[in-house]
Parts: sequence; C-alpha cells; structure tokens
Amino acid sequence: MIVLGLGTEGESGAAIVEDGRIVAAINEERIARLKLVAGFPRDSIREVLRLSGRRIEDLDAVLIGGREDRLQEELQPFEGWFEDWKKGGFAGRIKGVAGRLSRFRRYVPALEDAYYLLLTPEFRKRRERLREILRTDFGVTQPIEFVDHHFAHVTSAYFTSGFGDALVVSLDGGGDGRSGLIYSARDGGLEFVKEYSAFNSLGNYYAYVTNICGYKAHKHEGKITGLAAYGEPRYLDLLRELIDQENGEITNHAGLVFRPAIENIRKRLPEGWTKEDLAASIQQHFENVVVGVVSHWVKETGHRNVALAGGVCANVRVNQEIHRLPGVERVFVHPAMTDGGLAGGAALAACVPGTLPSKMPATRTPLPHVYLGTDLTEEEIADALERNGLEAETYEGPVEARIAELLAEGRVVARANGPMEYGPRALGNRSILYQPTDRSVNDWLNERLRRTEFMPFAPAVMMEHADRCFDELAGAGHAAEFMTITFYCTGWMREHMKGVVHLDGTARPQLVRRNRNPSFYAIIEAFFERTGLPAIINTSFNMHEEPIVRTGDDCVRAFLDGNLDVLAIGSSIVHHPSGVTHALQPVAHVEPAETTGGARRTGSWQGDAGR
Ligand SMILES: [Fe+2]
Repeated sequence: MIVLGLGTEGESGAAIVEDGRIVAAINEERIARLKLVAGFPRDSIREVLRLSGRRIEDLDAVLIGGREDRLQEELQPFEGWFEDWKKGGFAGRIKGVAGRLSRFRRYVPALEDAYYLLLTPEFRKRRERLREILRTDFGVTQPIEFVDHHFAHVTSAYFTSGFGDALVVSLDGGGDGRSGLIYSARDGGLEFVKEYSAFNSLGNYYAYVTNICGYKAHKHEGKITGLAAYGEPRYLDLLRELIDQENGEITNHAGLVFRPAIENIRKRLPEGWTKEDLAASIQQHFENVVVGVVSHWVKETGHRNVALAGGVCANVRVNQEIHRLPGVERVFVHPAMTDGGLAGGAALAACVPGTLPSKMPATRTPLPHVYLGTDLTEEEIADALERNGLEAETYEGPVEARIAELLAEGRVVARANGPMEYGPRALGNRSILYQPTDRSVNDWLNERLRRTEFMPFAPAVMMEHADRCFDELAGAGHAAEFMTITFYCTGWMREHMKGVVHLDGTARPQLVRRNRNPSFYAIIEAFFERTGLPAIINTSFNMHEEPIVRTGDDCVRAFLDGNLDVLAIGSSIVHHPSGVTHALQPVAHVEPAETTGGARRTGSWQGDAGR
C-alpha cells in the first residue's frame, strides 16, 4: 500500500509511506530556500514522487495532517509566531480576540467552543480547497482524508519507534485545538488515554518566554534550552503559579493565552530580571511539568517504553529527563518531531484501522535512518563546482580518510554526500564538521555562520565507543542516532572533548552506526585512528536563518558565503579561495580510556534499536 502524506501548515512538506515505511520525505523549506516556510507543498510532492520512483497513479490515498486549520496556500516565510501576527490579517485578528477573551474562559467554558465554531467555515474551506488542488493540479482521483494534528504526531512516533507496547506522547504549542494527546499502544493497536486543550498549552508558555527573552517564538526555543545552563531558576514559583500539572492534568492557572499571557509574565518579573535566569526557570519548570505528566501516565498504563513527538519533544533536555524516569526503560523521539513531521505522521496513520477503507500493514522495524531526501550526483557536483569556478584537489585513497586528515589538522569541513536528511537535524550528509577538542569553536564558528547559540555543537560518535563518552545510554540508543536527546558526559569525554560538552555536563550526540551511513562512519573512524577520539563535531550545513543545504549549488553558495575551510562534496575536496582564516588547532593523539559509561543502567544497550 502506498500513501502520500502532506503537511500543509507551518513547516509544510510531503512524504511517501509504503507498507508502513517512510521511503521519501522532504519539507518545502529546503526547496523554496525559506526556513520553516508554510504553504501548499507543491514542489515537495513532486520531489517525493521522484525520489520514490512513484507516480500519482501508484498511490492508494493521500492523507493530510491537520483537520482544523486555515489554509495557507501560497508559500509564506515564517518570521516568528508573534511577528506573523503583527502583520495583521484574519489570523492575527482572531488570535488577538482569543487573547482578550481568554481571561473569561474559566468563567464561560463555552467561549473556547465558540472560538472554534467561528472558524469552522474557514476550516471547511481549507479542506475543500486542498482536495481541489490535489484533484485538478495533480490529478489525484484516490481517497483524500485529513488526520488530526496530534494523532499524526502520535503515529509518527509510534510507527517509527519499533516498540510493540508503549506510551505514545504528543505535546506541542497547539494544533487542531489541542496541545497534547496521549495514547497507549499495545501490540500495534492504539488506545486513547488523554488530551490537553490548546488553552492549557505548556508549549506556548515556552514560546511566550522565548519572546520575552528577545527571540522568535516557535522558531528559537532551542536557544532558550541552551541559555538555561547559564542561569538559575529564580522565577520557578512565578511560572508555577501560571501553569502547572497535577496528577497528569495540565492547568493554565493564569487563564491567559497569547499576548495577555506575555504581558502577565512581564508584569510579574522582578526588576532587574535576567534572560539567563528566566530561561533556566522555564526550562526547569518545563522539565518538571512534562516529566510529571509522562510519569503519571507511565504509572497509570504500566508502560515501560515511551515514544515521543510534537514540538515540546524538540527539547533535548526534557527528553533526557523522561528517559531518566524510574519505570521508563526505553525512549524514542521521532526525528522530525515538530510540525515538519506531520506529512510522515499523516501517511503512517494509514496503519490505524478506520483511517482508510483498508489498513496499511505496519512495521515493527525501528526507523533505520532519515536519509530520505534529495540525493547528490557526481555530475551535479561537477557542474556546481565548474559554474562557480572552483577546482577540486587531487588526493590519494578514500575521500573519508582525506576528510579525517583535514579535520585532525584543525580545518572546518563542510560535508555534503548522498541523500539529504528528513527532520531538523543534519546527520552527516549535509553537515559542517570539525574536531571536538577546541572549546572556542562555539564562538568563532558560530560567528562565521552568523548564528547565536548557547548550546555547544553536537558530537557525532562511533556507536561502539559511545560508552566511553556518555552515561545512562541504555534504552535511548535508537533515539540518540537522531540527535534528539542529551546525556551526561563521562569524565573522559569532559576532559578530552571540551568543544562539545555543555556547561551542565551534557551533550546531545548523534551515535553513528557503520551500516546506517558507511561514509560518515568511515570519516569518524579514520579520525579516531589518527587521534584516538571517536567523535567529531557535526552541525548543520547552512548559513544563519537559512534552511539546510539541499543541492550542489546550495552547498557551494553556503561554503563560499560561510568562509568555511573545505568543501567535501561527494568525492570532491575543494579548498576555500580565501584559504584558512582562523588559527588551526590540530589534534594531538589521545589514549582511549576504559569504558566508564552506563553507570545507572547495565546490560547491552547497543541492541536497543533492534528490540
Ligand atoms: Fe504540532
């Protein structure tokens, strides 16, 4: 059975799912070159059909994420949540009204229903127009159905986790009137457990604080997660008064949403407050509430596995705390956990009876990798280099060994090879690489890339050596293949790889298996043979506020613009015309330490993904 899944809200995109497996997936931002772009994903549809070698006629159905949303047909760059409202328009006005009415919601509960009732004609118009576009512009004659926003997050997490039984949790700012949905999965069947209304949205409180700290809400929340380590949670009580959880129930005690909620937090902050302390406070509170909710439902359902999706689960520290919960054995986070994953999730909903006239067979195989996007051919690479007047060097031996040599010399290498990653993280095929010992890299390379980050760059680590580097890996090995969770670093790691360890002693690794990405693994292995360090820095290959590179031309442009030392694209190695413009920091050979990790949990964890 073959299904096309679509996300047409923010971070729109398309995915092809065949018999329970995602075979191609891309988000429109990568093609349009506009980060987090919203709008109907015309080019993504064409691209996933091309990548999967399928035609519209081959499809059994089209499933679209989100039932109750307004149509955003033309592509529109996402400037930030509140910035978009400022532009006005219907959406801005309706959110303004909702914000003003929110203070009365607790006295008149029907207000929330009235809000959605008011928008019902808009929702219907979207569904009708989307059907029309698919039928007339793409020739779709097969069934077209709409999947609830959070249910699409739930199916994205469960059907890629490889778990049989699991608590499946979707938490985000809001979608289809809800900010969360919890299911109990047993042996392939999904049973409803709990929902959280959009009014009681914990995710939105994180967004409010992101805005107050001077960043763009629904875009820069990751900066707050990093910034948190620099402050103290001094305003924890203040936030507890506004929103909290008890026995798995989240309550918006302040009774406010949107702009009035932001004004309320600002008003309550003491004179001389700092954004570091506010970030630490919301992060701590966020962890407490999410862990409280998950812990409650883990106890209620008796599940020991947890599968996660939704924007809240982009918070790598929260995911770590969920994994550390007593009673939780294994945790998995869908790699495209934000709304960029709705296309894949909607298509996977075909594995649930009742979504379509016949059910798609589900797979119990964990998601093997996310290299599901546009590929690069040697011909395209040669053309892109020639167009830009760049000449590749000649070298001896495999390209991976040459890249490792350049990294050990202290050079920054932009690597593009094979199919592009699905989801927000670059995992070796569209990545900027560097050696992991230089703590100062987080300042000078971010400056060069015109990024503001408070969390250090992430390490890509050979799977076999992960125990030397991290504690408490058991049960999260599969999640860590996609850089979705942090771990405490071992003493050896803290001593030898200072460039990737955060102030709080954590790192958010990508554990790399040889058979999942042989070329990327070979680079790290060759680096290990030279230096004794089984890890390199891996950060996404893009310039400030741009999406990750996709094509050969994108790579060349970002390489030149970012003043990166070396472009390693396919089998070609190109040095920047300006030469190396930073002090080279070569890596001295380090003796590997004895295994020190796995302190809390014992047993073989490397088989996590297989169980
Ligand atoms: Fe969402």
